[in-house]
Amino acid sequence: MTAVGIDAIEIRTGKLRLDLPGTFAPVKGEEPEKYSKGIGIEYSSLPDVYEDIVTMGANAAKRLLDRKGLAPDDIGRIDVATESAFDNSKPVSTYIAGCLEQVYDGDFHHANKGERKFACLSGTQCLDDAYNWIRAGRNRGRAALVIATDTALYERGDPGEATQGAGAVAMLIDEDPDIVSLSTEQGYGSADETDFLKPNQQFPSVDGKRSVQVYLARMREALEDYESVAGDTHSEDFVYIPFHTPYPGMVRKAALLGYRHITRGTEIEEALADDIGMQPREDDFATREDYEEAIRAYMDELKETRRYREWYEQTIDPTVDISGQVGNWYTGSVHVARLSALRAAAEADRDFAGERMLVGSYGSGAQAEIHAETVREGWRTEVDAVDVEPQLDERYDLSFEEYELVHDVHNHGKDVEVEEFTQPDAEFVFTGWGRMNERRYDYVE
Ligand code: HMG
Repeated sequence: MTAVGIDAIEIRTGKLRLDLPGTFAPVKGEEPEKYSKGIGIEYSSLPDVYEDIVTMGANAAKRLLDRKGLAPDDIGRIDVATESAFDNSKPVSTYIAGCLEQVYDGDFHHANKGERKFACLSGTQCLDDAYNWIRAGRNRGRAALVIATDTALYERGDPGEATQGAGAVAMLIDEDPDIVSLSTEQGYGSADETDFLKPNQQFPSVDGKRSVQVYLARMREALEDYESVAGDTHSEDFVYIPFHTPYPGMVRKAALLGYRHITRGTEIEEALADDIGMQPREDDFATREDYEEAIRAYMDELKETRRYREWYEQTIDPTVDISGQVGNWYTGSVHVARLSALRAAAEADRDFAGERMLVGSYGSGAQAEIHAETVREGWRTEVDAVDVEPQLDERYDLSFEEYELVHDVHNHGKDVEVEEFTQPDAEFVFTGWGRMNERRYDYVE
């Protein structure tokens, strides 16, 4: 069976940044460590006044097409994943294709375009759609362009304000891919939940604490479902485990829960038992509450063990590097986590081809999906070509007052004029509204 998966990746961050420990925390009267250590985000990326989900998506896609030397004819579908769309009918993919057609010869008239919605999960669902389309033999030799793009803003004063971010990830999905191939095996955990939603409103209604519990519950279900088709997972099976990362602190919780699950009934549980005892079994407790209390006590000890810490440092920590510099990119977030892992492997000069990663995606509302990926021979060249550092380093540092203006500019309910903070340079920009209330874009040389 020919491998199908990710052949190229590019990112585009919003060009502004807010320093959470340094600028946000003092205004909120909070300790910087809440952000640098607890939540784990140092900077939120935010869009300049001429940026939005279309410009970020189109700029990432253009860099990808240029680098791979592709023309519109090479692309058979453009799928956009977003939960920041501004139109209930016309998909963002049409806007992005329109942008790209301004700068390339030819057009995307024969590419199937769509927009996927399931909170942060839909980027992964777009990968699935592309994978299935290629596997079904309907692609006529063409590749799919998947773009996950979001402006993750919360209502001012909402606790979620600390986890904001804005950026896009463009991915090329193709046969015989250079970066990773995707497993056929997948696991799902899905339930009707109301922890985070945007019922025809721009900013989410969030029950933050519950959203954390729902994330963990669905992720656990997805892991069990994945194991039902792929067999039990073991802690040494996967070099990295990139999770959906709303903020690194969330991944800390998911990883601990996952480790407890995958070490249960193994030699590792037994080896740890000398120090922290065996994992509590529900049958040994009179009530569910007693069992849960025992689990919490076990987990508190587990996370302090040398064995767990080493596993976490090697397998999980490298996946949250970029997230800590940009915040939550919603649909792009798990794909940023994968890129972080690949970059860590490159930095460590790791012989990585043939190794596997387990990828845990999640979207509120709620659904988790887990699948495995196998690293391909061409991964290193592709990953070295992604310009993460320059993009992150060149962002403009906002003062708190400037941040308030930026939030207002991107608030659909407000009409404010704000000067741009950076100068556009060889990129797509938002230029204003058209006759039918459509958003308009130009390429600036
Ligand atoms: P909060 O109440 O402001 O923060 O909201 P907190 O008091 O829970 O503190 C956060 C962490 O910092 C805690 O760590 C504190 O202990 C720690 P934890 O106990 O959780 O491990 N902390 C400190 N650490 C060191 N030194 C200090 C210090 N002070 C505190 N001085 C919350 C946090 C995440 C709830 C909020 O930001 C929120 O509502 N965020 C939005 C929702 C969210 O991100 N949920 C995550 C799961 S749902 C999801 O991932 C889906 C999503 O991406 C949307 C989608 O799918 O579309 C959001």
